[in-house]
Parts: sequence; C-alpha cells; structure tokens
Amino acid sequence: MNEFIVPFNQPYLAGSEMDYLQQALEAPLSVGGASFAFRCAAKLKLVTQAHSVLLTHSCTNALELAAMLANIQPGDEVIIPSFTFTSTANAFVLRGARIVFVDIRPDTLNMNEDAIEAAITPKTRVIIPVHYAGIACNMDRIMAIAAEHKLLVVEDAAQSVGATYNGRPLGTLGHLGTYSFHATKNLSCGEGGALLVNDKTLLERAEILHDKGTNRAQFRAGNVRQYEWVDVGMSAPPSELQAACLLAQLERLGLITQQRVALWQHYDYLLGPLSTSGKLRVLLPPSECNHNGHIFAVIFNTSEQRDKAQQALAKEGIQAALHYQPLHLSPEGRRVGTARGSMVESESLPSRLLRLPIWPGMPASTCERVVEILRATLD
Ligand SMILES: Cc1ncc(COP(=O)(O)O)c(C=O)c1O
Repeated sequence: MNEFIVPFNQPYLAGSEMDYLQQALEAPLSVGGASFAFRCAAKLKLVTQAHSVLLTHSCTNALELAAMLANIQPGDEVIIPSFTFTSTANAFVLRGARIVFVDIRPDTLNMNEDAIEAAITPKTRVIIPVHYAGIACNMDRIMAIAAEHKLLVVEDAAQSVGATYNGRPLGTLGHLGTYSFHATKNLSCGEGGALLVNDKTLLERAEILHDKGTNRAQFRAGNVRQYEWVDVGMSAPPSELQAACLLAQLERLGLITQQRVALWQHYDYLLGPLSTSGKLRVLLPPSECNHNGHIFAVIFNTSEQRDKAQQALAKEGIQAALHYQPLHLSPEGRRVGTARGSMVESESLPSRLLRLPIWPGMPASTCERVVEILRATLD
C-alpha cells in the first residue's frame, strides 16, 4: 500500500479496460488474430499521422529494434543526452555501440543542439534526441545537422505521446520514434511501447525484425504464400491483454492530455512568484512546443533546498520524485561511453530537480497545497 495520501503518479483508468480485457480473453488466441493490437496500431497511426506504427512490449524494446534497424556495428558512435533513462543508451550498447554523451539545455533539460556538431566523428551513426517531459528538442536544428552528416535520428519520445512540435506529433519527426506505455506514462498498459517508422524505406526490415525475423507481414498482406525466416529478429509485439488496456486509454488520449496540461499550467501559475524572485525554476517550453503535461519539474538553487522540499512534502503525505542521474557518471556509462564537451548542466541540474505529483483526476487544490509547502520551505 502506498504510504502517501497524494502519490506522485496514479495510472489513469479509462473505465473500458475490463470490458476490453474480457473480450480479449474470450477471443480465440489465434495466431495473427491480434485484433486489439491491430486496433491500437491503427489508432496511433491515425492520431500521430506516422507512416507506420509497430507496437512493442516496451519503449526499451522499440529502441532495441531501432538499434537493429540502424545496423549498428561494434565501435559505431551514438550521440545521446546524459540526462536520460538507461534504455536510450543500453539498446545501442547491446549492438556494440559507443555512447557519446552531450550536455542538456538548462531551460528544457533536453539535449543541447549546440553541442551536437562538436560530438560528431567519422564513426557517428545515430543521434537520439530525448524529449524530456514531453517538451520537444529543437528538432529543426537536429534534423538539419543529421541531414548534413548523413546520420539517422531516433526520437526517444518515451514521455511524449500527445505532445507536438510545430503542430507535428513527437515521435514522427525523426526517421524513427519510440513511445512508452509503462505504468508511469500518460498512456499505460503496465508495460508497452511503440516504434514509429517515419522513413518508409525502413519499414520492410522493421516488420521483419519485429516479428522474429520472419516476413509474416508480407504473408498477412497476401504478398507471399508462406512466411519464412528471412533475417534476425525479436519477438516484439505485445500480448492482446496489454493491447486491450492500451486501446481503452488511447481512446481517451485527448482527455488525459487536457487534464494533465491543465494541472501543469496551474502549477506554473502558482509558482510564478517563486520563479520570478529566483527562489526556484520551472521548465520553459519553447513556443513551438505543445507539451503533454507528463512531468512538472521544479529546479531548486541547491540540492539541500530540493531535499528539504521533498521531505516537507513527504511529511504531509505528498510524494515527489527525483529523476535520472547523469549517465556519463554512472558505472556502465563510464565503461561504454564518453562525454564530449562541457557537461556542466547534466552534472548540476539532476541533484536540484524535483518532480511534483501530476496525474489526471488529481484535484487542483493539491497543486495549491504543494506550492504552499514549497513556499514555506524556501522562506
Ligand atoms: C526517456 C526514456 N526512454 C526510454 C524509457 C524506457 O521505457 P519503457 O519502460 O517503456 O521500456 C524511459 C522510461 O521511463 C524513458 O524515460
């Protein structure tokens, strides 16, 4: 049982999950029947306007598929921000890549696009922008750099379903994009994910890698009489049970996003005076970004202030969470990666960052109580 009265996150329940699960359980568990998975992929494709969507059992799994599709060879270099989850790096390390860490921007905590060019070498193959908190990286600039150096861009949009950049859904701007439907995300089916294939030249192989190295997608489309083993691959599709839960949530994506963004804006408004007086900072989404209210992060001036605020909230039964520690300083990050350029922001911001509770259905009065407590700790 959660010891907190206000948890940091509360997975959303649309209400139709049980009905869909029942339908999934009653359907014959036939090969290729996958109707909920099919409906989820079709719905995501419609919502995002992605060229193609392949559902996976996690975002980690979608990133692993992306690494295989990028044809990563031992020694190839992949550029990522240091402030991210392990999977961004790990998926590529599994294929022998060296990870090149670059610093983040202080306003969004996203990969600093000004640091990318200096990190490129003849071995660089892929850039992975991670859209922290559903706020987009500078994708125009990143795509221009990638085009100039002939690099693949894989958007780690784990946190970004429902968010846009210049009106375009995150995950659809790079050659490939990945979503997470883990229990902590805006849409959740416990564990789940998707690979968005935006470069259509990658689709045929993506479908093969996704389905155990077989050309079953071609078989389903009626293009071959029998499917066979044509390449290496993994078993990436989710179960019908996962897809049944996901569909229920996907049908409510607009509502979930709207409720989260409303709470995000309320926090932003309430924290305005503390922010103006320089007592703390909040993330500043650039004008071209419509975020999805996934995270409300506060950055204190010192880690002591952050810890004091977290403890004061906990004392009142309110859970607030820390986030990633810089990967370039982690034991595995040091083994498989190199930091290029100054890492001053990546090394300083995580120890001062606190994520406040935010979830659909959370009363607006909770934001008010949280801000009141923060204010008291900073007096
Ligand atoms: C930026 C980022 N990438 C990838 C992942 C991995 O997602 P999943 O748990 O669906 O594998 C996460 C998980 O939190 C994440 O934050």
